[in-house]
Amino acid sequence: MDKFVIRGGNPLLGTVRISGAKNAALPAMAAAILTEEPVILENIPQVRDIETERRLLAAMGAEVELGYGRAHHRTTICCQKLTRAEAGYDLVKTMRASTLVLGPLVARCGVARVSMPGGCAIGARPIDLHIKGLQRLGAEITQEHGYIEARAERLKGNHIAFDKITVTGTEDLLMAAVLAEGETVMENCAREPEVADLAALLIKMGANIEGAGTSTIRVRGVERLHGARHRIIPDRIEAATFIIAGALTGGDLLVSSCAPQHQATLLRKLEEVGVKFHVNGESIRVMGDGPFKAVDMSTEEYPGFATDVQAQYMALATQAEGASVITENIFENRFMHALELVRMGADIKIEGRRAVVRGKTPLSGAAVLASDLRASASLVLAALVADGETIIDRVYHIDRGYEHIEEKLRGVGAQIRRIGEMLPKRAGA
Ligand code: EPU
Repeated sequence: MDKFVIRGGNPLLGTVRISGAKNAALPAMAAAILTEEPVILENIPQVRDIETERRLLAAMGAEVELGYGRAHHRTTICCQKLTRAEAGYDLVKTMRASTLVLGPLVARCGVARVSMPGGCAIGARPIDLHIKGLQRLGAEITQEHGYIEARAERLKGNHIAFDKITVTGTEDLLMAAVLAEGETVMENCAREPEVADLAALLIKMGANIEGAGTSTIRVRGVERLHGARHRIIPDRIEAATFIIAGALTGGDLLVSSCAPQHQATLLRKLEEVGVKFHVNGESIRVMGDGPFKAVDMSTEEYPGFATDVQAQYMALATQAEGASVITENIFENRFMHALELVRMGADIKIEGRRAVVRGKTPLSGAAVLASDLRASASLVLAALVADGETIIDRVYHIDRGYEHIEEKLRGVGAQIRRIGEMLPKRAGA
């Protein structure tokens, strides 16, 4: 298993370019199931989850061509023939977002068999709302041997009111509704930019959708969809991670190609903390000359403060003067990074869904363990300002969602290297 070795103390200086959004690319790839024609996706990040989705689609009979050379961020997916409407346990267990194929598969093939994802490090994360929504669209659902099977000759439009806001649930049902007969009105939908980006692709494919990006989405089902070409939006979570890194290290960092309109809540919060920044077109220049002030933060669905940036904000809070109360409202167990930050010298107390971070405490390099994608990012940020060397184990979590993070960080002055596990040589080998 790879590890990162990071020596702290360098300010981040220069320009870092933000990649395409993993969480927009994953539903976009699943949307290709809805048509027999090729779907060309640009700005696809080269991260592990995208490779998992490629394997998932290929196992169904899809042709997935990854671009190479200068076109290495382009992917062409052609689902002309789907031989197996199934997402197996082997892949679903490594990536929960595999459940995004449920809606499009049942819409296109009339049947879908998808392994149930189990719990994960950050919470139970059930998919009951995806299932309830599909039932509202007329799918018959059975569940056995760890698999969900959905069947419907043709889905029928209906009214769906989500009990709770769910991002992939909204996306899954949106993809189901576009080929359903008649009109579907979905209420209490997720308003994340990734939902709007998926709708933009589906509209290019011939779907009839209104209101994506708001809490009510109206879909008029069509008989068939066609191929399209679409550019994935920038990754707002990667951008937020670099913005915080620039501030935390006392750097002067230009975060380019980052869709600043998706960062309004983060930037408002950072302004209160005392971080200086300028927005210019598609870039944000962040200057972290401190001092930072403790400011409370609660995660919420978009446009609120993203749960995917909570861990990185906590790393910043360790370097702010005073007590910051951080409340996690989306997932019930998303403070695993806090215990590792404490091992590096942070003063953090967890009480249920609240963490109280008292700063400013010096951080010192230590051996720490990454527990999930965003927790890993928070440990990288802490390591960049820690005294001495930090070794982060299990960085495969970070490889799931950050494209070439160590190269990007090295490019702006961080001391970071990746080391692989040294296996003892076999006798005679
Ligand atoms: N929920 C239910 N039932 C459902 C679906 C969700 O109770 O059927 C609950 C969840 O347990 C959670 C809340 O609703 O408490 C919100 O979960 P949501 O469904 O919105 O999360 P998700 O769609 O599984 C996406 C992102 C996550 C991100 C969350 C919240 C993708 C592929 N994943 O997950 O991203 O944290 O929305 O914004 O889009 C990450 O990138 O590191 C990541 C975890």
